[in-house]
Amino acid sequence: MRKLFTMVALGLALLMAQPSYAQKKAKVTNHTIQVNTPKRPAGQQDVIQLTTPKLETVRVGFIGLGMRGPGAVERFIHIPGTQIVALCDIRSERVEKSQEMLKKAGLPEAASYSGTEDAWKKVCERNDIDLIYIATDWKHHAEMGVYAMEHGKHVAIEVPAAMTMNEIWKLINTSEKTRKHCMQLENCVYDFFELTTLNMKKQGIFGEVLHVEGSYIHNLEDFWAYYWNNWRMDYNRHHRGDVYATHGMGPACQLLDIHRGDRMKTLVAMDTKAANGPAYIKKQTGEEVKDFQNGDQTSTLIRTENGKTMLIQHNVMTPRPYSRMYQLVGTDGYASKYPIEEYCLRPSQVDQKDVPNHEKLNAHGSLPEEVKKALMTKYKSPILDQELEETAKKVGGHGGMDYIMDYRLVYCLRNGLPLDMDVYDLAEWCSLAELTRLSIENNSAPVAVPDFTRGAWNKVKGFSYAFTK
Ligand SMILES: NC(=O)c1ccc[n+]([C@@H]2O[C@H](COP(=O)([O-])OP(=O)(O)OC[C@H]3O[C@@H](n4cnc5c(N)ncnc54)[C@H](O)[C@@H]3O)[C@@H](O)[C@H]2O)c1
Repeated sequence: MRKLFTMVALGLALLMAQPSYAQKKAKVTNHTIQVNTPKRPAGQQDVIQLTTPKLETVRVGFIGLGMRGPGAVERFIHIPGTQIVALCDIRSERVEKSQEMLKKAGLPEAASYSGTEDAWKKVCERNDIDLIYIATDWKHHAEMGVYAMEHGKHVAIEVPAAMTMNEIWKLINTSEKTRKHCMQLENCVYDFFELTTLNMKKQGIFGEVLHVEGSYIHNLEDFWAYYWNNWRMDYNRHHRGDVYATHGMGPACQLLDIHRGDRMKTLVAMDTKAANGPAYIKKQTGEEVKDFQNGDQTSTLIRTENGKTMLIQHNVMTPRPYSRMYQLVGTDGYASKYPIEEYCLRPSQVDQKDVPNHEKLNAHGSLPEEVKKALMTKYKSPILDQELEETAKKVGGHGGMDYIMDYRLVYCLRNGLPLDMDVYDLAEWCSLAELTRLSIENNSAPVAVPDFTRGAWNKVKGFSYAFTK
C-alpha cells in the first residue's frame, strides 16, 4: 500500500514538474526596463526632513496667473504671515486682474512683471522674496523651479511640477545643492475625506494597507479652449502615457508611506487608442490628426518593495463623472471616495460606542452613514482645527483643500519645519509621465522605478505632519 502511495505521489510530482502547454510555448525573458539614476553630486546630501530658518513673514512672488494662479493669490490674501511682493504673467491683463484682488483686499500693490517670455526671471532675482509660487503651463515648471532655487528662493510648483526624468533630477539636485524647499502643489492630499482616511490608516483601523487606487478622471472637453495658447491639448497630442498622474498618486503614496518605509519598485502601463483627442481637434479645426499620442484611457499598475500594489488611471477625454478613485484595500478594511464616500470595516475595528443599538455591522457592506460620520469626527486629521476648517471652506479652492495646502506650506515655512511634501514626493508622483510612456511603447514591459532618494527611502518610518508642539 505504502509503495503504491509513493509511486502515485512520484507520478504526480513528475506530472507537475512538466511545463504546461502555455509555458512550453512562452519564451520568457527578463525584460524589465532600467532607467538611469544619476549619481548624487559630490558633497551633496538628501533633503529628507529638510528644515530651513524660520520666516516671520513669507514674502511671495507668483508666476502664472491664468485660470489657476489668481485663486492662489486670493488664498494668500487670507493666510496670516504672508506678503504678496510680485505678480508675473506673460500677459499683462492677467497681472492686472490679480492686482485688482489686492486692491479690493486693501493690500499694497505688488510689483508687476509681464510682456516677455522671461520676465519671470526678474521675479526670481529679487532679494525681497522667500517663496516663488508657479502656476504656468507644464513646460515651464521645472526650469522656473530650478532658477528660483538657484536664486535662493523656496519654490512651490503646480502639478505636475516636472514632465521628464531629466527635469525631475534637475529639481532634486538643485534642492539638495541649495538646501531650498521644492514642493509640488498637490492639493488633493488635503481633501477632507483623504485627510481623515489617512489618519484612520495611521491609527491602524484598516489593518495593513495592501492596495490603493487613484486617478484623474475628468472630461476636459469644456475646458480645452481656455488654456493659454492651447498648451494642454498640444501636450496630450504630442505625449503618450499618464501625463497628469499626481492627483491620484499623491493620496495613494501617502497611504503607502512611499519613501517613508516603502518604495515603488516596478510599474507596467497600458493605454487605449486615442479617439476623442483627435476627434476634438477635427471638430474644432478640421485638421485630421493621425499621430495623436495620448490614449483616451491610460492605466498603470505599480508594485512596491513591501509587496503592495497601486492602480492609477488617467482619462481626460471621455464623458464620465469626475473621479480620483481614492480607494484603499487593507487587511481589516476598505475606503473609497468615488462615486460615494464609504468605508467597510471588520466590526472589531469599530468602537461599539460609535454604533447605534439598531445597527449590525459586517465586513462585506458599507458602514452605515451614522457610523461613518462618527468615525470621521473621531479621526479628523491632526492638521485641522475649527478655525482652519472654517476659513478653508469660506475662502475655498476645491471645497477648501487648496487653502489647507497653502496654509500648511506657510505654517511650515514660518516655523522652520519640514514641509508635508518634499522634492522626492514630487519626483515619484511626476515620474509616471515618462515611465508609463516607456512601458507602453515597449508593449507594456515592466519599468524599474528609480529610488529618487538615492538610498534614503527607509530613513523615515511612516508619513507624518510636522507641528510646533
Ligand atoms: N491642482 C489643481 O487642482 C489644478 C487645477 C487647475 C490647474 N492646475 C495646474 O495649474 C497650472 C496652470 O494651469 P491653468 O489652468 O491656470 O492654465 P492657464 O493656461 O489658464 O494658465 C497658464 C498661465 O501661464 C502664463 N504663462 C505662460 N508662459 C509664461 C511665462 N513664460 N511667464 C509668465 N507667465 C506665463 C499664461 O499666460 C497663463 O496665464 C498647470 O500646471 C495645471 O496643471 C492645477
